[in-house]
Amino acid sequence: MKIIHFSDPHAGGGAEDWRAYFDKRWVGVFNYRFRRRFKHDLTKLENTVGYILAARPDVAVCTGDLTSTGQPGEFQRVLDILKPLRDSAIPLLYLPGNHDCYVNVPKCVAAVRETVEYLSRGDYRLEDLPLLREYAGVEFMLLNACRPSNLLCSWGFLKKRDVAAVTEWCAAPKNRPRVLLSHYPMTEDHPVLRVRHRLFGQKKIVGLMRSRAIDLVLCGHVHRPYLKVDGSGRGECCAGSVTRNGTMTEIEVGAAGCSFRRVAV
Ligand SMILES: [Fe+2]
Ligand SMILES: [Fe+2]
Repeated sequence: MKIIHFSDPHAGGGAEDWRAYFDKRWVGVFNYRFRRRFKHDLTKLENTVGYILAARPDVAVCTGDLTSTGQPGEFQRVLDILKPLRDSAIPLLYLPGNHDCYVNVPKCVAAVRETVEYLSRGDYRLEDLPLLREYAGVEFMLLNACRPSNLLCSWGFLKKRDVAAVTEWCAAPKNRPRVLLSHYPMTEDHPVLRVRHRLFGQKKIVGLMRSRAIDLVLCGHVHRPYLKVDGSGRGECCAGSVTRNGTMTEIEVGAAGCSFRRVAV
């Protein structure tokens, strides 16, 4: 079966209300104004949607960070581009990124909730995660570690119930490939250097990857794509930022393992 995986488009914009200057959004808006908007090109997301519609994979996966500060206008900008894919028959699995869950402001929280429900065509809500789904003979475990964190950090936290759910799913007899979807990578080569951007609470899940109870982790968050897999294609694949690098990943998943192709858009 074929998966097309993209991540981190990071639509942005200005402050959408005056309160944004008094919460974490000012950091994100500043960052967008002076940095991100010169690096992220949303036309690459349009190209991605066109490619996916033509390639007709069994599943399309987006591992989050649709926005820069999680404001409703930013979500709308990216949803306008994703609409043809959302309205197609191709299953679309979206998980929020830390930038989509940036602040605890009611209209921003409502925007990410509505986006999850809209992109899943009402199949699941944000509060339904973690969630297990099966498509074309492959199990997908959808995990959310994104909650608003402090001003200067992009931390993710897996809760005990997240890890317990994955552990329980992995304890069942393994009859088909298992793919875990997460915004944050499960592995981290530089936990000290990247301490401001890291995930906490994933140790047990890394153990399940090592024991091959989980075949593949698809993630984003890190904007440069990478592939950390063994000879059979088991391990972790990060799609990188589609709007920054202009790349997405096409993955063939079979009983013997996975193969990968990076596609430029
Ligand atoms: Fe990101
Ligand atoms: Fe992120």
